[in-house]
Formats: sequence, C-alpha cells, structure tokens
Amino acid sequence: MKEPAIRGHWSGRWAFVVATAGSAVGLGNIWKFPYMAGTNGGSAFVLVYLLCVIAIGLPLMMTEIMLGRRAQRNPVDGMAHLSAESHASRLWMGVGYLGIAAGILILSFYSVVAGWVLDYTVRAATNDFAAITATQAQAQFSAMIGNPQELLLWHTIFLFLTMLVVARGVTAGLERANKIMMPTLVTILLILLGYSLAVGEVSRSLAFMFRADFSKITPAAILSAMGHAFFTLSLGMGAVMVYGSYLQRHISIARATFYVVVADTAIALVAGITIFAIGFANQLEPAAGPGLIFQTLPIAFGHMPGGRVFATLFFVLVGFAAWTSSISLVEPAVAWLIERRKLSRARAALIIGGLIWVIGIAVLLSFNVWSEVKLLGFNIFDLLDKLTTNIMLPLGGLLMAIFAVWVMRAAHVKEELGLNERHYRYWRFATRFIAPAAIILVFLNLLGWLPGV
Ligand code: TRP
Repeated sequence: MKEPAIRGHWSGRWAFVVATAGSAVGLGNIWKFPYMAGTNGGSAFVLVYLLCVIAIGLPLMMTEIMLGRRAQRNPVDGMAHLSAESHASRLWMGVGYLGIAAGILILSFYSVVAGWVLDYTVRAATNDFAAITATQAQAQFSAMIGNPQELLLWHTIFLFLTMLVVARGVTAGLERANKIMMPTLVTILLILLGYSLAVGEVSRSLAFMFRADFSKITPAAILSAMGHAFFTLSLGMGAVMVYGSYLQRHISIARATFYVVVADTAIALVAGITIFAIGFANQLEPAAGPGLIFQTLPIAFGHMPGGRVFATLFFVLVGFAAWTSSISLVEPAVAWLIERRKLSRARAALIIGGLIWVIGIAVLLSFNVWSEVKLLGFNIFDLLDKLTTNIMLPLGGLLMAIFAVWVMRAAHVKEELGLNERHYRYWRFATRFIAPAAIILVFLNLLGWLPGV
C-alpha cells in the first residue's frame, strides 16, 4: 500500500501528552461527569467509573495510540492497512467508519453545550451572576435553553471556531494553545476548589461522591459509568488513534497514556467535589441533570470577591477545554477525507462541519420546540448522547481491543508498545480478557439477557 502524503507530527512527548489531554479534558470532565454522578447516585457511579478508567480505559488508550502510531494513517485507512499487514479482513475498516460517525454525532450535541458555555461567558462578563440566588440561577438557565435562536447563534459560533482551527491543520497553533490553556484551567479549578473549601459543604460533597452505597449500583449506573470512562478519555472512536498517528516512534506510549489518564481523572474529581460542595451549600439538587454546572457555579461566582473576573475566566477556559476536545472529535473524519478522498483540509472541514451543524440544530430544538419529540423514549439530545457514549464508543473500543490482541501479530504490537515483559503481560491480559469481558457483560445486561446486578 502506498505511503500517505507527508503527515503532521507532534514536536515531542509533551506536545502529544498535552494535546491528548486537551482532547480528553473537556466538557466531559467539568460538565458531564458531575451531572452524571449526580443523577446516578453519586458514589455508586464514581466508584464504577474509576474502576472502568483503570481496568478498561488505561489499557485501551494504549491500544488505540498503538494502532494509530503503527498505521500512520487516519482510522479508516489505518485499520485497512493494519488488517492487510496481518492478513485479516478489510472489514476491520468498519471500526474507522464507526468512529467517524460517532465523532460527528458527538460533536453535534457537544457543540450545542459548548454554545451554552460561550453564552455563559458573556453573561459572566456582563455581571449577570451578581448576588444571584439559586432560584434565579435556575430560571436563567431555563430561559437560555428555552430560546432556540440564542442556542443556534452560539452553536454556530462554536462550531465555526472549531472548524476554522481544524481547517488550518493540527499544527503548532493547537499545541501552543493547549500548553497555555491546560495549566490555566487547572489553576482556575484549584481557585474554585479553594472557594468551595471555604464556603461549600465539602464533607457532604465527598460523602456523596465516595461513600460507597452499593444499593445504588444499578445496571444502568454501571453502563453509564463505563460509557463515561470512554467518553472522558476520548476512547473508542479514533480520536486518540489519529493523535497517535502523529506521534513519533521513540516516545513511550505507556508513560504518555499514564499522564493523560491521571490528568483527566484528577480534573474530573476536583470539578465534581467543587461543584457538589457549592451545590449542597445552596440547597441545589445534585440530580439537576445537564444544567447542573450552569446553575451551581454562577451562585458561587455571584457571591465571591472578584467573582465577575473568575466567572468570566472560568467559562472562557471551559470553552477552550471544549474547543481542544471538539477538534479531536472531527480530526478522524477530516483526516480520512483528506487522505482517502484527496480533499483539501478546508473543504473537508466545511463538509463535516456542515453536517454537524445541521444535526446540532435538531439537538438544540430538542431542548425547547421539539422537547416532546421522543425516539425510543429519549429526546434527541439524550438519544444521541446515549447512543454514542453507551453503545458506539464501547463497541469501537471492544473491536479495537479484539483486533490488537487476536488479529495483529504479537511481535508488531510488542515492538510498538515498547513495554517491558511484565507490563506487556498486564496490558495483554487487560486487553484480551478484562476489557472485552467487561464491555460484553455490560452490553448483555443492557439487553436484559443477564439478571440485574
Ligand atoms: N473527552 C472529551 C471530554 O471529556 C470529549 C471527546 C473528545 C471525546 N474527543 C472524543 C469523546 C472522542 C469521545 C470520543 O469532553
């Protein structure tokens, strides 16, 4: 098979780690994780999530990076190349297509929520949260999601910004933005944690998140926790694969993966602790759903000294976190159009962006005009979220794991991973048995073929 045209490469290990952390750390950590934990019984969800991150997420992220770096191609052609190398069926390309579809569907709701973040950035900058009460904060959020024009405006702006960057390529710009934004995001998060330690109900928050209550571990909570482990680590759809394909050969995959996973998990936990502590101190329900951070944080900001500045900074940075993630959601599709269909980057970005924009409109209408439109009992937003997070990502991850250990030659995998014997054995055991077994069990349970846990 012909080598693809010259492809971009990260400038070094840190560039890769920061970019991949930029992909992983996003709305999933700061927006989704707290509200998912809130609606799924707190600690029940958190503990299963942590277990999934360690047992499934870690080995699978290594697998996905390994596949990408070995293939040096976009996920579709990459899987075709690797299956040819292993004399396996070309149907494995399907994993690439599944990933491209998942990325498009995810970004179509991700962009709408990122739009809320932009909207809230403006509200923060114009001092809308000053001395706000819990009731007012809730009313403000409901008014926003009830207004389709407002949502459309911000969805359009966010998606445009994303596509603009993608059109310019995965270059030093993205690297540098990540290197500035990520530490700043962490700093602001720590300031908020400090605020919540001072005025929030941190011990109640910690109890809610970590005091094990196994009665709340339902099959639905397990599925959501596993799905979220995939979502928050950007796994199962080729985003990490494509980033891995831009990684130089001499860099240790295991070490890079470790840093990314630790950063992602730590940021999610700190965000969760902070948000629940503030929420409990203000009589807010942890089960508020997707509006949780938009209803709790303004209260904190509205009452703290310098709150206007912190609030603005915070929402800007969440916007940037979303932005560095959304780029990774479309990069597989765009790379595929460029390398396979020989389109220019700009044209590829325009096509994919247009498609996402249209699907996104259906998503934003599902919060207001179409709120009664239900498919399989879910509105459009919930349906896309559940379909991608709980089904497509775990399925993609399952297929990648199977491919890596049952189809690829062990010698190739070993060479690419560059692990010592003991770590290689652990990786292989986790990828061959633990991850597939866990994913399959959760799926069977979902289908009702296993008795409830
Ligand atoms: N991980 C990101 C977040 O937590 C979202 C994301 C980016 C993603 N790329 C992905 C999710 C690929 C699944 C697959 O916000």
